[in-house]
Amino acid sequence: MILGLLESLGRRALFQLDPETAHGLSIKALKAGLPVALSPRHDERLRTSVAGLDFDNPLGMAAGYDKNAEVPDALLTLGFGFVEVGTLTPLPQVGNPKPRIFRLERDEAVINRLGFNNMGHEAAERRLAGRSHRAGIVGVNIGANKDSAERIDDYELGVRRFARIASYLTINISSPNTAGLRDMQAREQLSELLARVVGARNALSSDEGRTTPLFLKIAPDLYEADLEDIAAEMKAHAIDGAIVSNTTLSRQGLSSAKHTEEAGGLSGKPLFERSTIVLAKMRKLLGPETALIGVGGVGSAETAVEKIRAGADLVQLYTGIIYAGPALPGRILNGMSRIMETEKLASIGMLRDTRRDYWSAKPL
Ligand SMILES: Cc1cc2nc3c(=O)[nH]c(=O)nc-3n(C[C@H](O)[C@H](O)[C@H](O)COP(=O)(O)O)c2cc1C
Repeated sequence: MILGLLESLGRRALFQLDPETAHGLSIKALKAGLPVALSPRHDERLRTSVAGLDFDNPLGMAAGYDKNAEVPDALLTLGFGFVEVGTLTPLPQVGNPKPRIFRLERDEAVINRLGFNNMGHEAAERRLAGRSHRAGIVGVNIGANKDSAERIDDYELGVRRFARIASYLTINISSPNTAGLRDMQAREQLSELLARVVGARNALSSDEGRTTPLFLKIAPDLYEADLEDIAAEMKAHAIDGAIVSNTTLSRQGLSSAKHTEEAGGLSGKPLFERSTIVLAKMRKLLGPETALIGVGGVGSAETAVEKIRAGADLVQLYTGIIYAGPALPGRILNGMSRIMETEKLASIGMLRDTRRDYWSAKPL
């Protein structure tokens, strides 16, 4: 029944639904194994190694789409080179009252104030353990419960719970929808947080011989001095990489008729410029060795490649697929292959940093 219904649902029909209902249906379609898009052709030139992991291609599904690790393998089938599940908190959590996702159609943007709605660590661990024999890079994004008395403890629990089954872990301290969470980006708190998560990760690693890479996901609403502090702490604690960026609180330059004043984080096209500037500045501060994942407003091969030129090793998207549908990753990868052809490049990594200085010179 749901299959037949979905087959007849195009983007226009999905857009008649409340965004959260549409999201739920898309998860169901992937879970049911519906052939929602063709897998793209493999291209050796798009392969890349980052933080000790070998990616088939540099395009990933960003956190927040598959919060509960229900469909990572179906997402990989769409062509994504990696999938980040979560954000997961230790205890299940309902999040904020609905409605809490809004489409800003004219801007190809979304505002969300979900507030880490998720089924908690245990449920996700069970699902991930069930797929652990499979190939494919699946990262786990971890956060803190809204009512947690000791938020750092929640991150430590996340590391302990998922380090063995995650390809990498993302410490998410940049959601605008949990009050005070972003304050953990301030230097003193960040230093304590990073010491604790690295300690937890290393304790497990020494038992097992594998070191799970730790990435830090940051907000775009930061100034130069904040970025300098974050980069310094990342270096001091040998954090493997940064994900730049989460959604923004800014409402600059929007033209949609509705929803622009809703509270929450803005994602999609209008986030591209700011998140790319922050990315390039972080590349400059961190140097060439630290992994960087560029995210924010990617919706085409050109925007994906521009993130790499600005300094990204890998790229992620979420909002783009809401507007373009499940064929988007395949289209972006084919477009990247064409760019490799035109520029006569043997490897996508050769594009990295080629426009870093252009982007990092822009003011925040
Ligand atoms: C509906 C929605 C839910 C999200 N939930 C999360 C989340 O749980 N954890 C997280 O780190 N980022 C979350 N994000 C942020 C995305 O991962 C991404 O950083 C941001 O949307 C910018 O990328 P985009 O412009 O391609 O969407 C969410 C974004 C959206 C639109």
